[in-house]
Amino acid sequence: MTIDHPSRRERMSRALNLTDEIVLVGAGHALPKPEISDAMLPFIAHQEYYYLTGHAGAPGGVLGFDPKSGWVSFVPEVTEMDRVWDGAEQLPGEFLSRLPAWLAARSGRRLAMLGVPLAEANADPATTTRVREALRHARAPKEPGELALMRRAAVATADGYTALQPFLVPGVSERRMQVELEAGFFRGGATKTGYDTIIGVGAHAAVFHGAPSPDRIARAGDFILVDAGAELDRYVIDVTRTYVAGGQPSAFQRDLYAAVKNAHARGCARCVDGAEWKDIHFGAAIDMVGSLVDMGVMKGNPTSLVEQEAHMLFYPHGIGHMVGLGVRDGSGLEPGRTKDPRPCLRSLRMDLILRAGHTVTIEPGLYFIPALLNDPGRREKYRDSVNWALAEEHQHLGGVRIEDNLLVTDGAPLNLTAAIPQAF
Ligand code: GLY
Ligand code: MN
Ligand code: MN
Repeated sequence: MTIDHPSRRERMSRALNLTDEIVLVGAGHALPKPEISDAMLPFIAHQEYYYLTGHAGAPGGVLGFDPKSGWVSFVPEVTEMDRVWDGAEQLPGEFLSRLPAWLAARSGRRLAMLGVPLAEANADPATTTRVREALRHARAPKEPGELALMRRAAVATADGYTALQPFLVPGVSERRMQVELEAGFFRGGATKTGYDTIIGVGAHAAVFHGAPSPDRIARAGDFILVDAGAELDRYVIDVTRTYVAGGQPSAFQRDLYAAVKNAHARGCARCVDGAEWKDIHFGAAIDMVGSLVDMGVMKGNPTSLVEQEAHMLFYPHGIGHMVGLGVRDGSGLEPGRTKDPRPCLRSLRMDLILRAGHTVTIEPGLYFIPALLNDPGRREKYRDSVNWALAEEHQHLGGVRIEDNLLVTDGAPLNLTAAIPQAF
């Protein structure tokens, strides 16, 4: 299924609702590798530019919009050397050399500068913010073509996780698992990984953005946390699974896993049209604190523990974010809102109302993180809210996260990544 960019731009121009302001959207520039070489770093066109043009390989490209005359795409002129060395082909549009005249003919009008800013653009910050927010909001519900790409990326992701299963055993290194997983993604049709693969064994399962190491080896009974997804034509899947090396968890690990799995299932079910994202976040926090109270790790009433932000000891991140065109697609605030200043919401990546067509991650997790659990201030503040001896006993256990990608619909949410194997 192809994406029709001209009709997408028409739809977006109606949503931007401009009368006199003009808009530029910069693709960004290719950067040389930081060494003496003629090679360039991989070029990634800015998300806003790519969304509006579909041009992945137009370094320096600029899209212009004037509500009085419509859209115009300024593209780099492909040279003979580009054709010889890179097999480049000329993109449709006006050559970039015509951009200064286009701008000069509109001088004095307010300018919104989206994408990667142009040094020469004299943008109005308030107009830029307003237009960027309007675009973000208008493009948040996914089109069928975008969903088709996400589904294909989900299939490639499932292929990788399936290929990984025989390697979830004692003696395997994080790096070996990464190799098997990513090979499965690529065999399944991925063009890239959606982000740097995260794999942590044992205590490292609680390192949120931990890079896989050839030197960390799973021991029998270690948690193995894998947060990785495939990318296909810029569309990304963001999934986490937590396994146990050798498949034999302790009773405590099983309870911890069940606590996260329950919060995950309930969080997924809450992803309905009209739902407040913050309610889903706090709902998961209360669910998981309730389980920690049942396990004897925390003490007190779950709702009031969450009101005191005590959940941040074991669940110090948000419930998720939008995903699709990049691992952090859209997200942000509902139009007209400002960031909620509560410390416990610092890592919540969005504060908005879910709508049919949104694609979001749901990723509750519980972790034993020494840096948080050994902090004297927290120990004092939550002296009576935690069984500190039990927390200490498990402080090298790592953690559990389960993450899936949900499509909000007019009815029940659809889990796009349900086929990816779970531990138990
Ligand atoms: N993969 C990083 C995240 O879940 O946000
Ligand atoms: Mn993730
Ligand atoms: Mn995520």
